[in-house]
Amino acid sequence: MKHFIPKELTQPEVHKLLLGGVGPRPIALVSTVSKNGVNNLTPFSFFNAFGSNPPVVAFSPSRRGKDASLKDTYNNLFETKECVINSVTYSMVEQISLASTEYPPEVDEFLKSGLTPIDSDIVKPKRVKESPFQMECKLLEIRSFGDGGAAANIAICEVLKFHIAEDLFVNGVIHPNKIDLVARMSANFYCRAFGDAIFEIEKPIGKKGIGYDNLPDFIKQSFIYSANNLGKFGNTETIPSDKEVDDFINQMNNEKPVNYESGEEAFYRYQRDGNYRYMLKASIEILQSDKTKAKQFLELTAKAALESNDSDFAWKTAIYAGRY
Ligand SMILES: Cc1cc2nc3c(=O)[nH]c(=O)nc-3n(C[C@H](O)[C@H](O)[C@H](O)COP(=O)(O)O)c2cc1C
Repeated sequence: MKHFIPKELTQPEVHKLLLGGVGPRPIALVSTVSKNGVNNLTPFSFFNAFGSNPPVVAFSPSRRGKDASLKDTYNNLFETKECVINSVTYSMVEQISLASTEYPPEVDEFLKSGLTPIDSDIVKPKRVKESPFQMECKLLEIRSFGDGGAAANIAICEVLKFHIAEDLFVNGVIHPNKIDLVARMSANFYCRAFGDAIFEIEKPIGKKGIGYDNLPDFIKQSFIYSANNLGKFGNTETIPSDKEVDDFINQMNNEKPVNYESGEEAFYRYQRDGNYRYMLKASIEILQSDKTKAKQFLELTAKAALESNDSDFAWKTAIYAGRY
């Protein structure tokens, strides 16, 4: 490991470390109006939501790194106490990058970026039409930490009204593939929260998993299971009994699946297809000829079941594998 004490580094060095390790950061596209009525539009990735009762969000229009001056967004917020925070989608990411240019305060970044201003219902700053998720906000407070270059000014805001495109909702939830958000990483890197980048983990709410410490040694010591697999095994509330495992294996033995083929080659094909039922059947058959190989195949089967969220199947198969 490398070790750093921030006080022994320059400000840009500290900034680089933070940007690299704290991410991906959501991007707030913040719209404000100056006291002279000029619109301002700027992206901020020192941003997040912190509570929902009332809905509180915060972002940091920090002091400029080069001369410690205050940014236009900070000045506007300080004077008018209102903003609109728009979420940033992949389709607009180049335009928000353009809006981050240090234009003078009299320049309207809606015009520069080509994004479309639309009226808000409660606050004066405009919403961004292209963003499917917009929050009208009032400033609660700004907390400043220092007056040097890149010092934080955390603007804490309450959301007064949400505007959300209807088509984002799938079964009442804003679906990541519909909203297609982007986030900020280190240097010039961004990431897109879409497609293969999205996965689900069942919440452990209301249940108490047995925990890593209670996993049997034959699971912890296996070379097949990954750390994530062990985390998922540990999230189960009870370990199946030997009798349950025996019944399960007997039932599998009695099944007569259609289009089933035995053998190693078939096993690998089922693995590629994520067909863990057939993987188990093939593994059990391989037990007759090669117990060491079959044990590995059984563990690969348990892993595939686990990764398909079939924990019960995974546990029973893993325990069966542990017998060899
Ligand atoms: C994706 C992205 C994220 C940014 N995040 C921040 C941030 O969190 N805080 C900040 O002070 N500047 C941030 N910046 C830089 C500001 O957008 C930039 O300094 C901008 O010119 C300030 O505009 P203003 O003076 O009109 O407020 C970011 C820029 C980009 C492109």
